[in-house]
Amino acid sequence: MTTMNIIGPDALVFGVDDLAACSQYLIDYGLQPVDVTATGGRFEALDGTAIVLRRQDDASLPPALGTASMLRKTLYGVADAATVQAIALELQRDREVRRLPDGSIEVEDDMGFTLGFQVTQRRALHLPAEAINAPGAPAQRAPNVVGVDDAQDLTPRTLSHVVYFVPDAAKAEAFYARLGFSCTDRFTGVGPFLRPAGTQDHHTLFMIETPPFMKGCEHFTFHMGGPTALMQAGSRFAGKGYQSFWGPGRHRFGSNWFWYFNSPLGCHVEYDADMDLHDDAWTAREAPMGADASQLFLLQHREKWAPGGPPPPGKAL
Ligand SMILES: [Fe+2]
Repeated sequence: MTTMNIIGPDALVFGVDDLAACSQYLIDYGLQPVDVTATGGRFEALDGTAIVLRRQDDASLPPALGTASMLRKTLYGVADAATVQAIALELQRDREVRRLPDGSIEVEDDMGFTLGFQVTQRRALHLPAEAINAPGAPAQRAPNVVGVDDAQDLTPRTLSHVVYFVPDAAKAEAFYARLGFSCTDRFTGVGPFLRPAGTQDHHTLFMIETPPFMKGCEHFTFHMGGPTALMQAGSRFAGKGYQSFWGPGRHRFGSNWFWYFNSPLGCHVEYDADMDLHDDAWTAREAPMGADASQLFLLQHREKWAPGGPPPPGKAL
């Protein structure tokens, strides 16, 4: 059997009610608008992965989920045409597989989410990681190379993962297992972190079991170049008036740094950085979900301040 080398989501497609606000939000988040018109457009990371916005009533969109969620399609990028074919062969055993003019296929998963699969259109990235100096280790930054750069490019690098609210996490996990996704870690009674075979990222999909009326997208996130880029991008975003929802902090499962914001897309939107990589030698961990298991630490954003000035907001003299 062909290995189903699914890499991760190439794009998420949303049908929104306030296209102008959602477009501005994604631009302020740091994505680059491509072919944006009055009917929507693409908002791309550096490697071409993207959020696609359309109007809610756009007839070209797959059906809505029947909840408040605005997610209409998760479009996966896969390594090669053989993987697209292998997925089609597997899924046409028990459901309709639509072949679209662009060569991709479209199906519904067992929870009713519309999925697409295409040979990935990601552009290869060749960028340095955030470099740090630590006593006892070789310097990652040479003498006279400074670590703080106000002009650092904060465009997110690549679409990292999407999180679904699903009514039956076990059934949903069984569907994705058919496509070669494996569980890297699990919150008991909540859902699995899933890694497809074409990436080593800790997860490209996480699921949270909820009542059916909540079915949809809880959040999506893009990878930044490191914790500092995450902090800079999040600070810039908060400074534009967007509301921090959770973070900044660092997760335990996946070890990724996180910072979540509220959005007009009907879901939260996250920045993440420095996620663990895994291969088939990894044994999944399991823990009850709760404050301790969800993060190593959690910080709270404050406006900038300096000694000698007025006290920081919320602090008495
Ligand atoms: Fe996340």
